[in-house]
Amino acid sequence: MTARDATRERFVAGWRTASPAETEAAGAALAGIVPPNTVLALHGDLGAGKTTFVRGLAQAWGVRGPVVSPTFNYFLLYRGQRQLAHLDAYWLARPADADSLLIEEFLEPPWCLAVEWPENLGDRLPEGAWRLDFAAPEETWRVLTLRQPT
Ligand SMILES: Nc1ncnc2c1ncn2[C@@H]1O[C@H](COP(=O)(O)OP(=O)(O)O)[C@@H](O)[C@H]1O
Ligand SMILES: [Mg+2]
Repeated sequence: MTARDATRERFVAGWRTASPAETEAAGAALAGIVPPNTVLALHGDLGAGKTTFVRGLAQAWGVRGPVVSPTFNYFLLYRGQRQLAHLDAYWLARPADADSLLIEEFLEPPWCLAVEWPENLGDRLPEGAWRLDFAAPEETWRVLTLRQPT
């Protein structure tokens, strides 16, 4: 099994993190295996670790400076070895409101789009999106699970 497959398997089985730093490290691990121009749909409740995960992903792609929650901006854009668009759809009242976000712009190269609250976008994300479920069974740990198929 290649290192890439092993990382993927670990996400499929449920990657357990015991601290924010470990959640960032999981994001960095995913950064190393995700193909270019992939959409990442990050499912999970408030506080489950989605933004923390994206911080680790962005830093692994060489993004410098703070990576913060885009909640009040909808989108935050970053440039490293890859270009990352981080969208938080939490405040979208209806999927129809997503039309004004111009999501299509970020579904094309060179962008990788990472979305928190993807269910608020209806069916606007592509079939090939990688979907990760974030669970916080207890305050002190998280489980990150990659849905199959990706
Ligand atoms: N494995 C973990 N154990 C404990 N706290 C964590 C873990 N991973 C992330 N956190 C913390 O959980 C809080 C919420 O994380 P955040 O990434 O903002 O969640 P979300 O974007 O899903 O709302 C932050 O304070 C973060 O540091
Ligand atoms: Mg968040």
